[in-house]
Amino acid sequence: MSESDMKKFDVCIVGSCNVDLISYVDRTPKIGETIEGKKFEKGFGGKGANQCVQAAKLGGKVAMIGKLGNDIFGKEYLDSLKQLGINTDHVSITDEAATGVAPIIVDKEGQNSIIVILGANLLLNEDDIQKAEDIIRQSKVVVCQLEIRLETVIKTFEIAKKYSVLSILNPAPMSVKLNQNLIKFADVICPNQTEAEILCDFNVETIDDAKKACKKLHELGCRIVIITMGSQGAVVSNEHDQCEHVEIEKCSSVCDSTGAGDSFVGTLALLMAREEKMSLKEQVKRACRVASQSVEKTGTQTSYPTTDELRFNLFG
Ligand code: RIB
Repeated sequence: MSESDMKKFDVCIVGSCNVDLISYVDRTPKIGETIEGKKFEKGFGGKGANQCVQAAKLGGKVAMIGKLGNDIFGKEYLDSLKQLGINTDHVSITDEAATGVAPIIVDKEGQNSIIVILGANLLLNEDDIQKAEDIIRQSKVVVCQLEIRLETVIKTFEIAKKYSVLSILNPAPMSVKLNQNLIKFADVICPNQTEAEILCDFNVETIDDAKKACKKLHELGCRIVIITMGSQGAVVSNEHDQCEHVEIEKCSSVCDSTGAGDSFVGTLALLMAREEKMSLKEQVKRACRVASQSVEKTGTQTSYPTTDELRFNLFG
């Protein structure tokens, strides 16, 4: 048995937990306009927890490190993570801020607009990560996104590096230019097209642009680069600077795309933990297929497929 096989967790996620308040509408309202919605759903979201839940639904042994408010949303959220079998030893509760919330609008094409009020997520700090050192050490892969403080992300990656745990940075959301220094802390960076544009300072519209972006992200110090390109699939580049285009099948019916990117990252992290011999291209292809299946149902975590629901074999 290898050292990696002896680890307690496949994936450890350090990131956000938000309660998603989703309104389904025909179209997004204009400024000053009131429109009638068709349906409302409350669900559990947040980029970090979404990735964690997707990996758990696919049978992964996963741990969540995050912060919730001492309120009804926080209590419900913690129960939900526990019910999914996720280790929550380091999901702490604070009296200082409310649980994060995300009002979301989904239009009739299934496209979303999201506002995040991060609340308690922004209180997850370096001390919390230090206390969770053992969980990170016991994981094969650790993942961070950007709905928590940058110092917290850096601390996580420093601990991951200390124990040779593979680290993935999903730089989402990225509203302001990220300190490019952060890139070198992670082994794998996984931006979408827009995030890659902000990181690289040039347009990333075509597959050739994405290949150029991979090169730049390698130069900034990241070993493995994966850029998701929506309907164009993804571009992957490994540590030998071998860049490949991963094509995907067209989604048959898009009902709600909320959290599809997180479904992709959660699945990818699990495959990287469990399928070390699988090529990067194949891991990304399979993660894209899971994410494509997630858009067929409404809601965020509720739309994520379990292994039994998948229309293909994820492992092996
Ligand atoms: O990526 C989707 C997620 O973004 C939602 O669940 C919402 O909470 C925001 O974090």
